[in-house]
Amino acid sequence: MSGLNGSKIIIGITGSIAAYKGAILARELVKRGTEIRVVMTDAASHFIAPLTFASISKFPVALNMYPPAGSEPANGSWHIDWALWADAMVIAPATASTLAKLATGMTDNALTVIATAMRGKVFVAPAMDSDMYRYPALGRNLATLRSFGIEVIPAGEGELASGLIGPGRLAEPEEIVAALEAHFATRHSLSSHTVLITAGPTHEPIDPVRYIGNHSSGKMGYALASEAVARGARVILVSGPTALAAPAGVTIIRVTTADEMGNAVDGYSDDADIIIAAAAVADFTPAHVFDQKMKRREMPDHEMNIELRPTRDILRSLGQRKKGTQILVGFALETASMLDSARAKLVEKNCDLIVANAANEEGAGFAVDTNRVTLVTANSERLLPLMSKRQCASGILDAIEKLIGSDQHEELVEQRQG
Ligand code: CTP
Repeated sequence: MSGLNGSKIIIGITGSIAAYKGAILARELVKRGTEIRVVMTDAASHFIAPLTFASISKFPVALNMYPPAGSEPANGSWHIDWALWADAMVIAPATASTLAKLATGMTDNALTVIATAMRGKVFVAPAMDSDMYRYPALGRNLATLRSFGIEVIPAGEGELASGLIGPGRLAEPEEIVAALEAHFATRHSLSSHTVLITAGPTHEPIDPVRYIGNHSSGKMGYALASEAVARGARVILVSGPTALAAPAGVTIIRVTTADEMGNAVDGYSDDADIIIAAAAVADFTPAHVFDQKMKRREMPDHEMNIELRPTRDILRSLGQRKKGTQILVGFALETASMLDSARAKLVEKNCDLIVANAANEEGAGFAVDTNRVTLVTANSERLLPLMSKRQCASGILDAIEKLIGSDQHEELVEQRQG
């Protein structure tokens, strides 16, 4: 049976000659047991009749945010109801114009409004003439969409409606179905697991207005939390101070200092099947916190020295306590000798996997939306390409899932029990 059976997918159709392939896609999804709804742009309705999609989906097609009098939806937030209803949305064909709107967050029609309100995964399958496909803004917009976690199903090469030959052909419906199948295959893969994730920086107070911190944004840990929820896991996210909203479906525990993070983790670690330490925890914290703001003019010789004491290494203590089949994953953010440090941390902290990345590499490390990581286990090292943090999270969870069933892990568990 297809992994799509029982799924709910919104198909978005935009104004391209390839709109007719959207009907084939719709039919293929229905055949696999997917419940579909279709939203079309005005331009799309010049290429193919909405009635075609209404007949295939057995549901009224959304064409406008404000349908004509007499056919209004029951409430003004119907677009949110659609977005919450769907497990995923696929825009195929996606024109250059719709892709540009999504990349900039412009929502001037029903399709873009729904797409930006989606909590489930969004896929776009571009289709346009090859010269348009090569236009620099298109590549930039696709990169932006990938960084948002949107999956781009690449266009093919071949003969185009204009008679030109080149890139820009809408991916074939079977390829689009395959991308959706791959996504839904991981949907329940962690449904019996509890995943504990640490994320973000810690802030170590010096006095009531100052702290010692670091540049971590929390994006990698939050992406891991979203991806684990998407795979059906129960997720507890212990987060240092970040500007990020809690991902839907996650239990979030907000902390400030390394000590607080350690205490929060202690409360959940025994129940976790998988623990991922993605936080950039301070290694040192001020030995004394001043209860009044430090005054420059009151400092002897106008100098300020702060005495620091080490914090607890949370990951190391988790490694010491690890039992049963628990999987422990650490991060190693390095500026030099990345792989050697990662291998050393794997052993020293008793981890099953270390995610290593270089802090000084373009597109990787703190604050950016992309990352390039190497996954280091006891018997493998795998470099993943530069990708969005959400895709990277998916790669890391794939590696964890592989470890769960592996002989190597069984052996380790036996050693622990023995
Ligand atoms: N970590 C932790 N608690 C700390 C410090 C680090 O749990 N007090 C975790 C991080 O979440 C990360 C891993 O340990 O998963 C590696 O952190 P990193 O700062 O790169 O390395 P350290 O172990 O602190 O070693 P060093 O600073 O010597 O590289």
